[in-house]
Amino acid sequence: MNYKFPENFWWGAATSGPQAEGRFNKKHRSVFDYWYDIEPDAFFDKVGPDIASNFYNSYKEDIAMMKSIGFNSFRTSIQWTRLIDDFETASVDEDGVRYYNSVIDEAIKNGVTPVMCLHHFDLPIELYEKYGGWESKHVSYLFSKFAKVCFELFGDRVKYWATFNEPIVVIEGQYINEFHYPKVVDGKKAVQAAFNINLASAKAIEEFRKCECSKTAKIGIILNLTPAYPRSNSKEDIKAAEFANKFNNRIFLDPAVHGRFPDGIEEILEREGVLWENTEEEMKTIENNKIDFLGVNYYQPLRVKKRESEFDNSKGWLPYKHFEGYDMPGKKINPHRGWEIYPEAMYDIAINIRDNYNNIPWYVSENGMGVYGEEKFLNEEGMIVDDYRIEFATDHLKFLHKGITEGSNCFGYHLWTPIDCWSWSNAYRNRYGFISLDLNTQKKTIKKSGYWYKRVTENNGF
Ligand code: GAL
Repeated sequence: MNYKFPENFWWGAATSGPQAEGRFNKKHRSVFDYWYDIEPDAFFDKVGPDIASNFYNSYKEDIAMMKSIGFNSFRTSIQWTRLIDDFETASVDEDGVRYYNSVIDEAIKNGVTPVMCLHHFDLPIELYEKYGGWESKHVSYLFSKFAKVCFELFGDRVKYWATFNEPIVVIEGQYINEFHYPKVVDGKKAVQAAFNINLASAKAIEEFRKCECSKTAKIGIILNLTPAYPRSNSKEDIKAAEFANKFNNRIFLDPAVHGRFPDGIEEILEREGVLWENTEEEMKTIENNKIDFLGVNYYQPLRVKKRESEFDNSKGWLPYKHFEGYDMPGKKINPHRGWEIYPEAMYDIAINIRDNYNNIPWYVSENGMGVYGEEKFLNEEGMIVDDYRIEFATDHLKFLHKGITEGSNCFGYHLWTPIDCWSWSNAYRNRYGFISLDLNTQKKTIKKSGYWYKRVTENNGF
């Protein structure tokens, strides 16, 4: 065997509440539930989150399948809109409590360590309508109340918590690039929301540290790190990449690990009139409540160059004032999704965490390959022969392994996702799972990659 991973390495995959469960028995709507209700056309094939992959009803069978392909761990999320009855007081919905208790118990019974995330893009719509969602610090506070309830209810069994999943995607989707409801373009709100989510995460960690359960559990955050590579070694391209790294990655990474914002970013935002509002006390909360471990979602890098076309000011300040995307000739592309494939970044991420982030314990919390029209790879036995996914994961694991060999403190690898699940406005367009889902029958079938994964997990490498 050429690539052996550390002892007790996590093998598994990640999904989320809104993408797997379906809306069964949920009394509140998230921004996505609401968006689908008012604009179903915005979703691929008009498929919404109503049924999703039916995890609400089939979690027992689904977890058994995950176990059967070798998982020792998996991540999902607790939906704020399912667990909580009244957001102000954080009183609970009894069906939500029963449901998450059963999911957690079922995973543990199967020897699959559950990692529970508290926010996977699923802000309650009521909190957007009433307060402007993440524009409001009151919502940061309400989030910490919800988090506290989760720790109290499930903290006797859940040993790994994550406050947020990919917070920068919330910022980009809701306030910059218009792919999450409410799809506004407003740089100043984007910046304030980024601060407020950092604050919400820190406040949740503060609650966690007060909970008895924190003595035997750990808390982290899940960040999609898209290393920004400059087009060239020119000073201007490097400067553009530095800003992109600060805005896209470090704006959440630095506060989470170091308790402060990346050097220089506040000055730039202030000079440009968009700096967030904050108090000293809030800064202290961020400084004093850092994570124990980091989850890194990695799909693709960010290629950046200095601005060449003039920045379009008609919508006000945007981070793109400082950089432009760079379409690198000759890059390897996933033709089914249009994303670049660059496994080398896995190594760069590992070394960056080792050298610049205290070599904090971390794991790959998502990595994967979305494929459109995957049914064309069905064989006669009804199995999807997804060699491209095996190749994708293998290539990324090799670079991860190199980083680990050189001392990076990585303790696991999760693919996105165990069972094909609903992906926001793309719905079921691109499939990512080790297990396929027939949307009409809800039949779930292990793909070739699932059998491959089982062997990898049994050997703790390949
Ligand atoms: C990630 C996100 C997941 C999933 C995945 C594949 O950015 O965390 O929820 O949608 O992309 O599209």
